[in-house]
Amino acid sequence: MFSVHDLNKSFPTPQGKLDVLKDVNLDVYQGDFIAIIGESGSGKSTLLQILGTLDQADSGELLLDNIKIQHLHENKLAQLRSQYIGFIYQSHHLIPELTALENVMLPLLIQGKSKGYAQEQAAQLLTELGLSERVQHPPAHLSGGEAQRVAVARAVITKPKLILADEPTGNLDETTASTVFSMMRDLCKSQNVAVIMVTHSQSFANACDKVYALKQRTLSELTF
Ligand SMILES: Nc1ncnc2c1ncn2[C@@H]1O[C@H](COP(=O)(O)OP(=O)(O)OP(=O)(O)O)[C@@H](O)[C@H]1O
Ligand SMILES: [Mg+2]
Repeated sequence: MFSVHDLNKSFPTPQGKLDVLKDVNLDVYQGDFIAIIGESGSGKSTLLQILGTLDQADSGELLLDNIKIQHLHENKLAQLRSQYIGFIYQSHHLIPELTALENVMLPLLIQGKSKGYAQEQAAQLLTELGLSERVQHPPAHLSGGEAQRVAVARAVITKPKLILADEPTGNLDETTASTVFSMMRDLCKSQNVAVIMVTHSQSFANACDKVYALKQRTLSELTF
C-alpha cells in the first residue's frame, strides 16, 4: 500500500554535507503496526517527515498504492496528506484557542465536510475514547494523557490509511503511555490503519507487528 525505495537524505551544514539516510527501503501494508527504533540523532524524525511528504528526500521513490508521489506539486501533496495521512507528535500540537472537540473537528472541516457532520463524528470518537466529559476543554485544561488522546482522535478522524507517530507517548508517565499506546493500537487495528511509530520504549516496540531499527543511516527489520 505504501512503500519507499532507496531513499537518501542529507542536510547541508556549515561543516559540509551531513548524510542522514542511506538507501532506506520500507514496505507498509494496510493494518501494519510498525515500530521504528534508533538512537537519538539516527534520523527517525527525518524519515517520518519524508514519509509524510513534509520533507523531500535527495533521491528515492515514495509510492502510495503504486503511484509515485515524491514529485507531486505541493497543492496535490497537501490534499493527499489531508486524505491519507494522520500525524501524531511527542507533544500534542493541539490548537490552544480551540476546544478538544473543535480540534478533532478541524481535519474534517478542512476536507470540506459540514460543521454538523464534523461535530457529530468528533463527539462520537471522543466519547469512544472516554473523553466525553472533556470535549469543551481547551488543550491547556487537559492532562497530558487526555491531550494526547485528543491528538490521536484528531489524527484518525479522517480515517487515514497511514498514521505517522513520532514518539507519541514520549512525554507521558508509564501508565498513561500504556493507555495511549493501547488505544492507538486498538483504534488502528479496528479501522485497519497502518501505523509507523517512532518509539524509545522496548516494550511498546515488542507489542508492534514489526520492528525496524535505524542504525548507521540504514533501516533494517529486527527479527526476534
Ligand atoms: N534541518 C536540518 N539541518 C541540518 N541537520 C539536521 C536537520 N534536521 C535534522 N538534522 C540532523 O539530522 C540527524 C537526524 O535528526 P533526527 O531529528 O531525524 O533524529 P532522531 O532520530 O529523530 O533523534 P531523536 O530520537 O533525538 O528525536 C541529527 O544529527 C540532526 O542534527
Ligand atoms: Mg526525533
